[in-house]
Amino acid sequence: MGLAAKFVIPGVLFILTLVFGFWLSRSGKPYNGLLFNIHKLIALAAVIVAAIRTFNALKIVEAQPILIVLLIVIGLCAVALFVTGALMSAKKATGRAALTIHKIAPLLAVIAAIGTLFLLGGRA
Ligand code: HEM
Repeated sequence: MGLAAKFVIPGVLFILTLVFGFWLSRSGKPYNGLLFNIHKLIALAAVIVAAIRTFNALKIVEAQPILIVLLIVIGLCAVALFVTGALMSAKKATGRAALTIHKIAPLLAVIAAIGTLFLLGGRA
């Protein structure tokens, strides 16, 4: 299986997470429990599948420092998404900060993921 093919499933899961995220946002508060759980569980599945595929890809390539930096950025984005998501759903007074981080982190993760695939490309 080529490198790009290995990331089709996590890619599709990520896009579904975005779709359910926007849907959840538009459905207003209190959050729709079904949409919230679908959003959260697909996000979890996307992170797990992407992590497994990344670890496997890393077994066959030499990890350059820039690659490690990009992977750390993606990991931090994932942590930020889960923390802000949990805070927003726990009805904590997060102000706009949590939602702002929750909107920027996916964008940053996508940029870092494109860079990662570019660096891995042709070598995995
Ligand atoms: C890969 C991980 C995730 C991604 C990419 C993601 C992405 C998004 C996006 C794009 C939105 C719509 C924001 C907007 O209106 O512009 C959203 C909303 C939301 N997400 Fe996530 N999310 C992720 C994980 C999570 C997790 C794990 C939770 C819960 C623990 C969560 C809870 C929420 C909540 C509560 C909203 C609604 C916010 C609001 O508008 O009030 N998300 N998410």
